[in-house]
Amino acid sequence: MNPFSKKATTYDTHSFIQKEVNNRLLNRLDLIKHDKSNILEIGSGTGKLSQDLEQKYPDVNVISMDLSHEMSQVHKKKNYNAKCIVGDAENPPFQLSTFDTLLSSLTLHWCNIDSNLFLKFSNLLIPNGLLLFSVAGPDTFKEFKKCPPDIYEKLRFNRYLDMHHYGDFLLHSDFKDPVVDNEQITVEFSTFSKLMKSIRLTGTNITDSTNRAHISKAEYNIIKSCLYNDASSSFELTYDIIFGYALKPAKTLNKSGKLIKIKEIKK
Ligand SMILES: C[S@@+](CC[C@H](N)C(=O)[O-])C[C@H]1O[C@@H](n2cnc3c(N)ncnc32)[C@H](O)[C@@H]1O
Repeated sequence: MNPFSKKATTYDTHSFIQKEVNNRLLNRLDLIKHDKSNILEIGSGTGKLSQDLEQKYPDVNVISMDLSHEMSQVHKKKNYNAKCIVGDAENPPFQLSTFDTLLSSLTLHWCNIDSNLFLKFSNLLIPNGLLLFSVAGPDTFKEFKKCPPDIYEKLRFNRYLDMHHYGDFLLHSDFKDPVVDNEQITVEFSTFSKLMKSIRLTGTNITDSTNRAHISKAEYNIIKSCLYNDASSSFELTYDIIFGYALKPAKTLNKSGKLIKIKEIKK
């Protein structure tokens, strides 16, 4: 089962980092000169970003796609008119060239990420279409790396790729002018249990023992002591957020009516 489905009802109360990242993504969208009329949000969760988009750009059509039926249901409850689709980013249920903008926030690290995924995204876009995303990078939850290796090994983390990989994927999948950068957000929690709760209730379970060895109470206490920061007298948790965007190249028709790339015309 998608871990988010189990946390759909607690997600909104605890997803303050995700909301902050959504805001930063929206600010970036504002800065990119680009015509938008048909947007797909990939991994829309409970719909915060889609709702903000609709508010900010009332004339724009926003489709919200998420793998989790339960997350989409929470979205739909908040906004009956939301256009929610349950679908997989790795196999998007849309025709080619359907959207002028694809947005995705904190979802791609839950997918099997490679150039092929980005090629699928590119196929969904019309020429000059924009892909803008945020994704968790390798320093996410870096505080856990302070744990002894035998304990760290028992924890379960996503595959957090370096931002250069995203640049490469974009370049190798029919996008042009990719731009990637990252920002770190560190949150201080007054107790370790609040920190763990914040992670768990937004869909991530790093101490899930289904695939890894069981974490004992003693080991849990060691993790707790490793994450304590004397300087701030708090438990810290870092989110390393990679932001990326790229455009689909413009294309035009050749004599046979086939679409050709602008760079081929220039030859
Ligand atoms: C961390 S949440 C982010 C949700 C929302 N974008 C936000 O910022 O609040 C990740 C979301 O990605 C969805 N997800 C995970 N894998 C997916 C996939 N392959 N296709 C579509 N959605 C996926 C999850 O169901 C979850 O709602």
